[in-house]
Amino acid sequence: MTATIIDGRAFAARLRDRIGAQVRALQSAHGLTPGLAVVLVGEDPASQVYVRNKGRQTVETGMASFEHRLPDTTPEPELLALIDRLNADPKVHGILVQLPLPAHMNAASVINRIDPAKDVDGFHISNVGLLGTGQKAMVPCTPLGCLMMLRDHLGDLSGCDAVVVGRSNIVGKPMAQLLLGASATVTIAHSRTRDLPATCRRADILIAAVGRAEMIPGDWLKPGATVIDVGINRIPAPERGEGRTRLVGDVAFDSAAQVAGAITPVPGGVGPMTIACLLANTLTATCRAHALPDPEGLTP
Ligand code: GUN
Repeated sequence: MTATIIDGRAFAARLRDRIGAQVRALQSAHGLTPGLAVVLVGEDPASQVYVRNKGRQTVETGMASFEHRLPDTTPEPELLALIDRLNADPKVHGILVQLPLPAHMNAASVINRIDPAKDVDGFHISNVGLLGTGQKAMVPCTPLGCLMMLRDHLGDLSGCDAVVVGRSNIVGKPMAQLLLGASATVTIAHSRTRDLPATCRRADILIAAVGRAEMIPGDWLKPGATVIDVGINRIPAPERGEGRTRLVGDVAFDSAAQVAGAITPVPGGVGPMTIACLLANTLTATCRAHALPDPEGLTP
């Protein structure tokens, strides 16, 4: 079998087009422009790239982008005061504080300072609790993107055996909650799981979110499974020249594509969906702030 490739770049581009159309409709019907504030503390190079891409795509979709860059020596109370101002600003509908934060800050206190209604990352403890109890929440972007791709590819997920490998707060746990909400039978596997290959082989849907390069080979998969690879790992690529590197997922793509029914590539799979879902969440937060119905097709 050779798997269908789930093209996250194309999916994300279509999603951004739909969001752009809904933003224009919101502007003409209600005079509202969704606004997203992104806060970056420090100079982490990967974070700078993310933040630049977020800002560009926000503007391209017709939303307002507000960027706040603070030095990595910023005292935590100063960051909390900025969050308070953004919480109170009616032009700002979504707030994202880029992680990781400098070591002297407590990430949980910072995130929990964000108004849950503006928490477009879905990391605030209230949103975690709302999602876990099946109530209307802001949902973390990467798992939301994975769910959208799964629904697009498979339709109804109810009764499917889904295995999530990885138990992070950002991906593994919310992914499991979303799959449960879609009535899948969900297993969360992790580094202490006793027989990980056998657990993976039960999966109609396998989500790999561990952050270990190519750790899941094709012979751990059920034939025909749908595989969503969240991992983005940089490994040496001497075949491309000395000192060169390349990106791979948590799944060994070549062997997996021989067994799976469908698979997301790395790069070009889940990655592009994350920012698209951030824009989706910003639009959702704007609608909810104004007591309008949720935008079509952008929520779980
Ligand atoms: N750093 C890496 N990914 C993310 C994300 O999705 N949200 C935030 N806030 N920081 C990140």
